[in-house]
Amino acid sequence: MQTKQRDSFGSRFGVIAAAAGSAIGLGNIWRFPYVLGENGGGIFLLIYLILVTMVGIPVMLSEFTIGRRAQRNPYGSFRVLAPGKPWCLVGLVGILAAFMILAFYTVVAGWTLEYLYQAINNGFSGKSPETIKNMFDVFRSSTFRPILWFLIFMFMTAWIVVSGIRKGIEKYTKVLMPFLFILILVLDIRAITLPGAGEGLRFLFKADFSKISTETILEALGQGFFSLSIGMGTLITYGSYINKKEKLGNAALNVTIADTLIAVLAGIAIFPAVFAFGIEPGAGTGLVFKTLPLIFLEIPGGYFFSILFFLLLSIAALTSTISVLEVIVAFFSEELNISRKTATILAVLTVGILGVMVAGSWGWFSRFHVFKQNFFGIFDFTTANILLPVGGFFIVIFVGWFMGTQNVKDELSNGGDIRASYLPVFVFLVRYVAPLAIALVFMNGLGWI
Ligand code: PFF
Repeated sequence: MQTKQRDSFGSRFGVIAAAAGSAIGLGNIWRFPYVLGENGGGIFLLIYLILVTMVGIPVMLSEFTIGRRAQRNPYGSFRVLAPGKPWCLVGLVGILAAFMILAFYTVVAGWTLEYLYQAINNGFSGKSPETIKNMFDVFRSSTFRPILWFLIFMFMTAWIVVSGIRKGIEKYTKVLMPFLFILILVLDIRAITLPGAGEGLRFLFKADFSKISTETILEALGQGFFSLSIGMGTLITYGSYINKKEKLGNAALNVTIADTLIAVLAGIAIFPAVFAFGIEPGAGTGLVFKTLPLIFLEIPGGYFFSILFFLLLSIAALTSTISVLEVIVAFFSEELNISRKTATILAVLTVGILGVMVAGSWGWFSRFHVFKQNFFGIFDFTTANILLPVGGFFIVIFVGWFMGTQNVKDELSNGGDIRASYLPVFVFLVRYVAPLAIALVFMNGLGWI
């Protein structure tokens, strides 16, 4: 049980910056473009937008509601709100997902540091497009570098999380997020003025219905969950630090809009270049790393912009890794009753082992495959497409059917202080629409129906 005063966010902007900081990250700038590229372009965007509205917003608001009501980590929250019931298992699955996501996500974050290092050393200049594309594969299959960068990133994350919510997470995200936004806009302007940009934009925005498939819909759902940081309790954890006076509905809406906007802006920055330089849009996980350096070679001041971009990509990743680590740290410290510092060390050690295996997916551990996937692929697919949707399903079912409408109403209206006129729509969405949509997409995508 907590005895000390619980740490909390200090301002409304701090809440939005931290939650948007969690949501906006590599999922938007690295994962969204390559998943969209593999899944037929515009049709994926359309399905994505529909699912984010019907499923994403309800799950996010449900998480905020649970967390702020219970004032605990995901596992503890379910124990407080449903004592003696098996609901806390949902929290535990969330914690498991946090371990797995942190392990592979921090590896990609490490790649961004390698690229930052290359940018500073002018490592792209004078190279042919072919060489730049190869650089990524060579780096990723090397033995030590990916592991080293992973470990460095893990320590940076831990360093912020150890400082707490207001003096750590909030302080950094408030400054870093606005920067990221401005930079993406600059890159967009450059990308759409590239010769041949039109083809990339058409690929992004033109929905070709012949490319629709059940896997595409599951991928869109998984991407939505991943990008919004929902389905595993990150936003339950952040919700538990939100002041009782904040409007949760507004927070959920603003964070979702910001996250979706950045994903689309990232697509606009990347696809014109993909087509202009003849890169295969379905090139997979390396897409962004192979494309963006090529844009920088074309920009006046490209040296400067490449440093700024990879710096900000690392920052976007950092504001997300801290949110995932916070889930594990809150869980360890509250449930084992240990200090934040000890909890952080414990978390870093455990995630560190998993992460080293993932970082070596193309190097040391490249021979390890399950269903043709290496460690990296297994962690990515299992979390985004399985654990998060399953977690999200139970979260909305809990809020819709088990938490009690009066409790939900009380939390969303701040104890009756504000009007939450959207409440009937929200209840309808969490009771029927979101669970049904998740269940159908999920079972269909896995070939069960
Ligand atoms: N939403 C983050 C991104 O799009 O980069 C990734 C992420 C963070 C996923 C936190 C899940 C999570 F709990």
